[in-house]
Amino acid sequence: MKKVVLWTLAGISLLSSCGETGESPGPLEEPHRPRYHFTPPAHWMNDPNGMYYQDGEYHLHYQYYPDSTVWGPMHWGHAVSSDLIRWEHLPVSLYPDSLGYIFSGSAVVDYDNTSGFGQEDTPPVVAAFTHHDPEGERAGRSDFQNQSLAYSLDNGRTWTKYSGNPVLRNDTGIRDFRDPKIVWHGQSEKWIMALAVYDRVRFYGSDNLKDWAYLSEFGIPGDTRLWECPDLFPMRIPGQQEEKWVLLVSIQQQGPNGGTGTSYFIGDFDGTRFTADPQEQQWLDYGADNYAFVTWDNAPVGWGRRLGIGWMSNWQYAQQVPTEKWRSAMTLPRVLELVQEDSSYVLAAQPVPSVTGLRRSGFALPGRISGFQSIQGDFRPSRCELEFRVDLEATTAKAFGFTLKNTKGNRLEIRMDPRTNTLVVDRTESGPKGFSDAFFEGPHRAPLHLEGGSVDLRVFLDVSSIEIFANGGRLNFTDIFFPEEPFDTLEFWAEDGELVLSEGQVHALSTSWEEAP
Ligand code: FRU
Repeated sequence: MKKVVLWTLAGISLLSSCGETGESPGPLEEPHRPRYHFTPPAHWMNDPNGMYYQDGEYHLHYQYYPDSTVWGPMHWGHAVSSDLIRWEHLPVSLYPDSLGYIFSGSAVVDYDNTSGFGQEDTPPVVAAFTHHDPEGERAGRSDFQNQSLAYSLDNGRTWTKYSGNPVLRNDTGIRDFRDPKIVWHGQSEKWIMALAVYDRVRFYGSDNLKDWAYLSEFGIPGDTRLWECPDLFPMRIPGQQEEKWVLLVSIQQQGPNGGTGTSYFIGDFDGTRFTADPQEQQWLDYGADNYAFVTWDNAPVGWGRRLGIGWMSNWQYAQQVPTEKWRSAMTLPRVLELVQEDSSYVLAAQPVPSVTGLRRSGFALPGRISGFQSIQGDFRPSRCELEFRVDLEATTAKAFGFTLKNTKGNRLEIRMDPRTNTLVVDRTESGPKGFSDAFFEGPHRAPLHLEGGSVDLRVFLDVSSIEIFANGGRLNFTDIFFPEEPFDTLEFWAEDGELVLSEGQVHALSTSWEEAP
């Protein structure tokens, strides 16, 4: 029997047995387990929660049910990383209690000890989360979701729930009242909480994180329910000192390619009220699988930028996807920037720079492609980065793209069509069907400007996911897929003409695990 040492788990090393003995496979042998994306050691995960940076460590909490691979009584799972790629799993931070399950929320480093939870020279980290009382919900009450606090004085290794919980009771009569995101508002010197309340965000203010006063609410016309997991943060207008505020909101329906998705508004926040710029609600990611994207508190990514991560799944099928021991991965951590387009702004996101540390051997893609061209080299198509720029002036093909294949006949096709200015990701034949109809609806489409000049793409493949960052990160596209065996063929192609790449690289990627094939 071969033993493989996996991630270090809070002092425990996970030993997995593989192969010959007929024992159940360890995580390394699990068919769809990503090799450099964050996944829970086992069992169910959804939203990222309580993310903050302190003393060289990025903390990531997540909605976790440690007893099953489907959603259940929620805990906060926990991991830390110094580079956002290699994660160390820590014990569960927050367990359900008499006030309910521990739903989504955020965490802040309370440098000035405004909460009084700290001690001399030890500022507390304060987490805010929703206590969800399942009995109250079953009884048909409207006040079963309330906001509570917990704090840590030892770099997040232990957490104490505040004895005065809940700190914000639901007095709205509206049942959906959850996912507190706290941010410091420097100008008015107070904490702001953004809270998802059915089809809007309500804002509350506090001096001490314990006493909250209602400030205002923000919503848009029409049936846009259900709003979840808001985030509010300042960003810098490129090249200027002035700031704009971004309000992220995850939406339970009518995502850009069906089901759930993360959207955003750009506007201003004056310490009381958020006012959106005239442009409409926009999608942070056009793929089907980036939900509940929220950002880190205190991350050292430069003023005006923001570091965040999303849950790489979709409530339409998250609980049915064909993984056995674990369910769901996170997206790559991404750095958000504000970009000006005409007179308005959009968010651009790129993977965190440390992801380049995974690069191993690299080689050039062909400069000119017509018909089909299989890409051969020292890399696995199932775990690589593609980086290329399409010369749109010189390209004569009516459509072009690349396809991943395996010997089982599964395929994932990425197609760009200058006639319609679209990026199309087709996972309809990406693996065995049957676990969900919604998963195989498609193909998925996104607007991508493909006329004149050039367009740049960075593509990350990791066993069961694809993330595309196009046009300077202005277009993000994240989809998951579950082939019968890993994709082992990568083919670029051009239809009716030639595809011309002015730059093109394939990077083999290593894994963020301590040891892995
Ligand atoms: C979003 C969400 C949150 C809630 C959590 C429960 O995916 O529905 O609104 O707090 O999941 O797990």
